Amino acid sequence: MYDYKLLMDMAKEASKTSYSPFSRFAVGASVLARSGKIYTGCNVENSSFGMTICAERCAIFKAVSEGEREILAVAIYSPNADDCNPCGACRQVMYEFQGDDNVVEIITENMGELIVRKLSEYLPYGFKI
Ligand code: THU
Repeated sequence: MYDYKLLMDMAKEASKTSYSPFSRFAVGASVLARSGKIYTGCNVENSSFGMTICAERCAIFKAVSEGEREILAVAIYSPNADDCNPCGACRQVMYEFQGDDNVVEIITENMGELIVRKLSEYLPYGFKI
């Protein structure tokens, strides 16, 4: 049980800096790391479309590059869609940085209501070396 509303508010704020001129689909994410710090990210697209990075991975990589190794919760927001869920690639990246308790909570918003789900619901039997 974390401050889900704060995480969602920070994801919403992050969605405002989305660089998405090609899809026009803005996404923002926030990540609560084990240290207690919250990192944010947005999707960043590119003229070479495959170079695009999702908001979730942007935020997770910011956290990891600052020394974090465990994420506790990820909030995701798009002004363009309700219940904006993480893509498969982002699920796998979240799986890599689960804590010892193997629980990452994922927060989305649907018609103003927060939804909290576990990463294990999104990605059962994930891959890790
Ligand atoms: N996108 C994300 O940022 N996160 C996801 O989990 C799914 C997709 C972005 C990528 C692209 O910039 C836009 O949404 C449309 O696919």
